[in-house]
Amino acid sequence: MSTSELVDGARKAAERAYAPYSGFRVGSVGVADDGSQYTGSNVENGAYGSAICAEGTAISQAVSSGARKISTVAVACIDADSVDNAYPCGNCRQLMNEFGVEKVIVTAGSGEVREHTFEELFPHGFKLET
Ligand code: THU
Repeated sequence: MSTSELVDGARKAAERAYAPYSGFRVGSVGVADDGSQYTGSNVENGAYGSAICAEGTAISQAVSSGARKISTVAVACIDADSVDNAYPCGNCRQLMNEFGVEKVIVTAGSGEVREHTFEELFPHGFKLET
């Protein structure tokens, strides 16, 4: 699956976001180590703090389908112009850390696409030894 296909998938997922409060639609695709793809979008709530991020939705889809290792996460914020405003939040980075994400692809309205190693975005992350 190419970067541009993942970006397209994340953009399509963002179109399905439920974001009536922030007006900030985010979509994500998580790719499991067997190549399976899982999409997610942000799901907001009138109790604002109960919002679920797009990446969290995609990762939860993957994990609840049996995946335990997610190699790549793509994220698209279609209501942000600059890619600088489209990076995963700290909570999502911690979630990615748990499932071994190695690559993060970020894009926004401008169409610019950036690729990062996960280590660049979340160095020295906490992970409980099991
Ligand atoms: N949001 C995401 O979906 N992913 C992130 O990494 C950061 C924020 C969502 C949550 C909320 O619905 C909206 O963006 C504004 O914070």
